[in-house]
Amino acid sequence: MASSKDSDYLACVGPGTPMGELMRQYWIPVALASEFAADGDPVRLMVLGEKLIGFRDSTGKVGVMDHRCPHRCASLFFGRNEEGGIRCVYHGWKFDAEGKCLDMANVPPHQDFKHKVHAKAYKTAERANALWIYMGDQARIPALPAIEATMLADSDVTVRLIQRQCNWLQGLEGSIDTSHAGFLHGGTRTVRDYDESDPEKFGAIHRDPEYMVTETPCGTSYGAYRPADPGLTYWRIAHHLFPFWTLSPSGPIDRHVTARAWVPMDDTHTMTVNFVKKPQGQPTRSQAAGPAGFTDYLPNTTDWLGRWRTAANDGNDFLIDRAAQRTTSFSGVSGVFMQDQMITESMGGITDRSLEHLAPSDRMIAETRRRLLRAAREFAEKGIRPPAADTPEENIFARAGHFVAPTEANWLAAYRERLAAARDANTASA
Ligand code: FES
Ligand SMILES: [Fe+2]
Repeated sequence: MASSKDSDYLACVGPGTPMGELMRQYWIPVALASEFAADGDPVRLMVLGEKLIGFRDSTGKVGVMDHRCPHRCASLFFGRNEEGGIRCVYHGWKFDAEGKCLDMANVPPHQDFKHKVHAKAYKTAERANALWIYMGDQARIPALPAIEATMLADSDVTVRLIQRQCNWLQGLEGSIDTSHAGFLHGGTRTVRDYDESDPEKFGAIHRDPEYMVTETPCGTSYGAYRPADPGLTYWRIAHHLFPFWTLSPSGPIDRHVTARAWVPMDDTHTMTVNFVKKPQGQPTRSQAAGPAGFTDYLPNTTDWLGRWRTAANDGNDFLIDRAAQRTTSFSGVSGVFMQDQMITESMGGITDRSLEHLAPSDRMIAETRRRLLRAAREFAEKGIRPPAADTPEENIFARAGHFVAPTEANWLAAYRERLAAARDANTASA
């Protein structure tokens, strides 16, 4: 159980909130790079409770800035994206992708003060098909995070955005809560549904894993374990990386390269940004099911909250099929991602954590909350830099996945060994 005060401290991310300020110390993936065309329409973006507009200028550079024009706050969404900048249509002031005022068209040249005016713009970057922004101190910008799935060449990674209508932490907690997989996603599956050689069958035999949890320099990691064949243990290893990343163990560790960012749009809307390495050779079960296992999108609109919404949603009960729920499907909702979407949205915009009764199966959630709370407090009260904010290269240690190891083996040693072997094999075959 968490107090409502602690819960709000973690959940709220607007400007000036402790968690919001912590998040602003990291690069944030906010859109597909392909959402912006050179000299194309400006795009409304809602990130950490801030209303922003993004546009790609004539040279291909993307600018992201406060949507309010620095003159008298008209929205630059209605601006003209032309000839290397965006021009406000109220009085014609023009700004480049970095926010520099290029033209003060309604002021005579001898009264012009354009060199003193700056739109509030954020540093942008493009990597792995995504647009990233940095909303912290623009004079002190760190490197992009060394999270494996986000470092792939554009041609090797699939990126999908899906909006979820609940608080970011609620969504994220569903992603580090492995024991729900045996119910919400696989409650009707039995061992007969798996190949004899597929270790995921042990998850269907034992639906009550135990956990090891440890802090890392970048966040918190867990190993969920169950008995496998005699003398062996089935491990599922996964990670939370600061501030809002999860790596889930839904594939074998040697070839499962994914990452998901739970990017707060505001306190009750989250953009999940999913990076999945394209399969090379045989796809894993989750790759075969599709990058995110979800249904269709609604058409994107230009609204602040209008991008990447799912067709199955709260308004139509996620298209739950009650007949299927009685027979073939535990949840009655199709697609792993949509099952998660339904259940985490059903907990409310920001769930009331004072009503919870956490169990040993929630150990990873409890540790992750504690770690986030401590980091946000230490940053807000003492200025202590949060984990890996200045050392984003440290994230490279992390990959999630499952494997079977001798029961007496140390889980972290077994994880490191398998990851090193997988990366060696990858280097050798490259
Ligand atoms: S409000 Fe934008 S130019 Fe006047
Ligand atoms: Fe799930």
